[in-house]
Amino acid sequence: MADPMEKRLQTCYGELRQLYDGLYHNDEQAFDYFCSMLRRMWLARKDALRAKDEARLEAPGWYRSRSLLGMMLYVDNFAGDLNGLREHLDYLTECGVNYLHLMPLLSTVRGRSDGGYAVADFRAVQPELGTMDELEALADLCRERGINLCLDFVMNHTSEDHPWAKAARAGDPVARARYFFFDSWEIPGLYEQTVPEVFPTTAPGNFTWLDDCRKIVMTCFYPYQWDLNYANPMVFNDMTENRLFLANRGMDVIRLDAIPYIWKELGTSCRNLPQVHTLSRLLKLACYIVCPGVVLLGEVVMPPEKLAPYFGTPEYPECDMLYGATTMCTTWHTVATRDVRLLRRQTEQVCSLPRSCTFQNYLRCHDDIGWGLDFPWLWANLGQAEVPHKKFLNDWFTGKYPGSWSRGELYNDDERLGDARLCGTAASLCGFETAETPEEERRAFDCYMMLHAWMFTQSGIPVLYSGDEIAQLNDYSYLDDPEKRADSRYIHRGKFSWELAERRSDPETRQGRVFGMLRTLEKLRADNEVFDADAAVSAFDTGSDHVLGIRRSRGGQTLTALFNFSETALPVPNPASGGVELRSGAAHTEEWLLLPGYGFVWLLSRDAAAEKE
Ligand code: GLC
Repeated sequence: MADPMEKRLQTCYGELRQLYDGLYHNDEQAFDYFCSMLRRMWLARKDALRAKDEARLEAPGWYRSRSLLGMMLYVDNFAGDLNGLREHLDYLTECGVNYLHLMPLLSTVRGRSDGGYAVADFRAVQPELGTMDELEALADLCRERGINLCLDFVMNHTSEDHPWAKAARAGDPVARARYFFFDSWEIPGLYEQTVPEVFPTTAPGNFTWLDDCRKIVMTCFYPYQWDLNYANPMVFNDMTENRLFLANRGMDVIRLDAIPYIWKELGTSCRNLPQVHTLSRLLKLACYIVCPGVVLLGEVVMPPEKLAPYFGTPEYPECDMLYGATTMCTTWHTVATRDVRLLRRQTEQVCSLPRSCTFQNYLRCHDDIGWGLDFPWLWANLGQAEVPHKKFLNDWFTGKYPGSWSRGELYNDDERLGDARLCGTAASLCGFETAETPEEERRAFDCYMMLHAWMFTQSGIPVLYSGDEIAQLNDYSYLDDPEKRADSRYIHRGKFSWELAERRSDPETRQGRVFGMLRTLEKLRADNEVFDADAAVSAFDTGSDHVLGIRRSRGGQTLTALFNFSETALPVPNPASGGVELRSGAAHTEEWLLLPGYGFVWLLSRDAAAEKE
């Protein structure tokens, strides 16, 4: 009898072949190599992982469970190295974390690492952090403890320190064919006419002149991050092998970094091209064949209409999960404007997607907040124009706007486009950093908790950014480090403060209040079926433009959630008369509810239909 991998290969062989042949012009040899590589990676997959694959094939929606709580962290900031992290797994469990995203930790060269996103060796861990064996041992331990691990796979580019790049630089034509090399500026100049810049101020342009070999190479991100040419099947084959290598070390989720950028075509923006979707479908198929328990998380930070296609279709899925990037930035827009109308619309759009579309939800991550809002809608409905509105948001969150209590810093402030983005920890953006009086502390706390409650109300995996569980503030020490100074994202990549974390059980402290309340909310989420990913979710008009209303129905119960995005107490008609507040257990039969400034309620009621049963 054929082994399970062969069976899976046979099931999708026709599609696999067709997609591969289409992209790589019937390159027989490359396809044969691809299939034999898949076999090799399957043979190398250990029994414990194969058993997990089988279990997950039986329960394919495991990553959609409401009991999952995520955290993303830098190993060095959190615990020094991988061994340190092992020793702190109890802390993560105490936080309720069972999905852990480790920020890039593969081999990279200091000073040109882009926070680990410039990989010099996809098979080796950065020596200061540990070894590949230690990473595998950590994954084994996490598996025993029910913690799912996620790791980045930086697929758009390699570091200029990667052996392929070094060989290319030295003149090896095979290695050069893995990248985009040019002899003159003629073609790069044509690309520049249509390809936007990712880092317009910190790394302008999409090409870099290599003085030693007198060539130009494509570098859409930093000059030391050389874009890989996925039109070359060897690149696709070898990078897929690298990805499967990481999956075989025990990763549960692989984050496909910058996936929209992986196909380049002259005369286009080189983003979200149709070939990217062919590749992402092929990536999914390769996973299904070799490691069907592994989930693909697409890093697609793109305008709302470009996002959903990365899920593929129910018959032909691509990414299993995507970041809720638009919801995240629309949430911060709502904090600054106190007007929930765009957020309501954005939520309605998310709710209109098939329920199988799963988002990883977050308030802050390691990257900046790019203002990828629905500007045509804002202009048509609220008369807010893109450039002045971005300026308002940035002024608000950097504390320049009169009355602002927020503290963040601009990122890639492109004066030509008026397109600055924003950095800062959630706690500093919510006003903890500027809070001096008890009232200001309370306002920051209420805003902070309301935003977290909103995140927990969304379907998908809520992911905390390490330090948020104790409301850690901005870290300005990056300004003293010449290697980091130019990149303000380091303001929210500071060392985790174990000293502050010590206070987490003391309700008299900020850390204790935040930690305790987060745990309460997370437990309520895990315990109540209405938070299931399969619940029917909708947004509704609460009668106030400052108050967001969400309904989730499941198992004969409905959760009605209200979030006051303004600092003023507001009366709103009670949309769930008779509902019981989940946190307090109090029944609310009154016709009007008074929502305190930045207040929120989770009202649970039995559905009329269920009532009659
Ligand atoms: C992704 C990462 C970001 C990095 C970029 C280039 O967007 O999240 O931190 O700079 O890719 O690899």
